[in-house]
Amino acid sequence: MRTRLVILSMAILVAMPFSGSASPRQDLEEFQNFYMKRFPDTPFEDFANGVYSIDAASRAQWQDIEEFAPYELNISDGEALFNAPFANGNNYASCFENDGIGIRQNYPFFDTDRGEVVTLELAINECRDANGEKRLSWGRGAIADISAYMAYTSRGKIIDVKIPDDPRALEAYQRGKMHFYQKRGQLNMSCADCHKFYVGNRARADLLGPALGHLTHFPVYRSGWGGLGTTHRRYIGCDKGIRAKPFVAQGKEYRALEYFQSYMSNGLAINGPGSRK
Ligand code: HEC
Repeated sequence: MRTRLVILSMAILVAMPFSGSASPRQDLEEFQNFYMKRFPDTPFEDFANGVYSIDAASRAQWQDIEEFAPYELNISDGEALFNAPFANGNNYASCFENDGIGIRQNYPFFDTDRGEVVTLELAINECRDANGEKRLSWGRGAIADISAYMAYTSRGKIIDVKIPDDPRALEAYQRGKMHFYQKRGQLNMSCADCHKFYVGNRARADLLGPALGHLTHFPVYRSGWGGLGTTHRRYIGCDKGIRAKPFVAQGKEYRALEYFQSYMSNGLAINGPGSRK
């Protein structure tokens, strides 16, 4: 039955590749099947390990690094920040379901009251707004540490991003999908060119990792940054890499992209924070 469903949805996708009219569910099947076919030796769960899921040599180095994980300090700093009272005596726990513990997998979500995508970092800063505190900057520093702690308490939880039955939710999803597949920048490349169609090839010194599992482990400690950074910091980096003008962190565009990318990784476990070259 399942095979038949897969064949059917593949037939539909062949008929209208990447058109806006495939449903998110059809997109998801096509997307995940693509990587599983391309890397038949990688078990599904392992795509949460990014480029290391497809390259044994760099995986061994990475596993050594993870033994004394470079983000350990960020998790404990994040925990302290998370629990520290605001000037009014409240803390972050007061803004989140389950006091903010073990809930990373619920983000981003489409808020049907507001009609927009809410990411974890947006919710962290909105918690500050609600408590009369100044916002944190989006890319690194305290917001990344808090997000790292929240991800850490959610390790092993399965991503299950929903597209509610609301035309605005579908619109946000389609916008993110479009961003992923549309060519841009002076190099005229799309996210999909590097992370799907040329996945496993090299771009200069870098092996191009699969987009399946792209966001399971954010925020991420990158040696290239010498520190921890958020998802939107990474998006800005990849857009700059193809000499495209990056969008603003936490604007509508990148939130839509994060929504699409997270939905594509449904079924994988949260394993953040992570470390990457
Ligand atoms: C010219 C090729 C190229 C393009 C185009 C590109 N990237 Fe990347 N991206 C890379 C490389 C190289 C890395 C680091 C190796 C890896 O993890 O794939 C990377 C890493 C990432 C990561 C982190 C992966 C991890 O495991 O931590 C994310 C997320 C990402 N890219 C998203 C995007 C998105 C979204 C777009 C489109 C806006 C995009 N990339 C466009 C080359 C590219």
